Amino acid sequence: MKKKIICVFGKPINHSLSPIIHNYFYKKNNISLYYKALNIKNKKMLKKEWINLVKCGGIGLNVTVPYKHYAIKLANKVCYRAKIAGAVNTLIINKTNLYGDTTDGVGLIRDLKRLKIKLLNKRILLLGAGGAINSIIQQLLDLGPKKIYLVNRTLLKCKEIINRFNLKNIIKFCSYEALKNKKSFDVIINGTSLSIKKDKISLYKNIFKKTIAYDLMYSNLMTNFLLFSKLNKAKIYDGLGMLIEQAAETYFLLNNIHPKTKNLHKTLRNLLNNNDKKKYY
Ligand code: ATR
Repeated sequence: MKKKIICVFGKPINHSLSPIIHNYFYKKNNISLYYKALNIKNKKMLKKEWINLVKCGGIGLNVTVPYKHYAIKLANKVCYRAKIAGAVNTLIINKTNLYGDTTDGVGLIRDLKRLKIKLLNKRILLLGAGGAINSIIQQLLDLGPKKIYLVNRTLLKCKEIINRFNLKNIIKFCSYEALKNKKSFDVIINGTSLSIKKDKISLYKNIFKKTIAYDLMYSNLMTNFLLFSKLNKAKIYDGLGMLIEQAAETYFLLNNIHPKTKNLHKTLRNLLNNNDKKKYY
């Protein structure tokens, strides 16, 4: 049987677990797959490799940091949720069209459901206002939170998001500094790239009280955000579950089958903790 070809483009990409996840889904469903992770140095290379992928009969592309914004330009049709996010993490190649979509929001919501984290009437704090936050905010709003606070170094990006949604009673923004005067939050989600860069995060203790802290990133080491949250007695979760669930949604878009993810959560956690990726390739 002819192998389906899919790539993931990003920088850095070596740490990516996407090849393992996608190989797992395809194997379980008896579909032959060739999945390649490419470290993409710049936008020019991204375009070139994308053209190559389309030419050689690839069925889809996963896009990760830092190209999600830019990759939207590679599509000639963009679905509603990607338009709102202004970013794509999935490109679907078919005979007549190159569809852009984002599965991050759905991935997060499914993971929150799996973890039994409810947002209805809750006070939510989102750290960051870049691609990661833009990709999830609509789905978070759909869960009916009481307030969503956006915090970012560059406040203009928060203003842009607020203007786009036009929900001034629900979405507010402030600086990191202003957090020291805020009440505690039920859920804090880190969508900054600080976790990747391993930089320190400057937050204040007062924003934690029986808080759930969720980092959209995952790592075998605890991120600084989760470390600080844990010190402040928050329940902490990283983005590994979201990664699995967004990949499952991408698999669905490409194959029209919902793959089972339950066992994968445990397998991948063990794998990440033991830092032993090679075993699974
Ligand atoms: P992504 O697609 O991962 O969201 P991005 O669009 O470049 O990447 O956004 C990165 C986010 O991390 C932004 O919110 C960025 O803040 P700015 O918009 O002010 O740049 C945030 N970020 C990156 N480094 C940071 C740092 N050292 N301190 C605080 N926020 C940081």
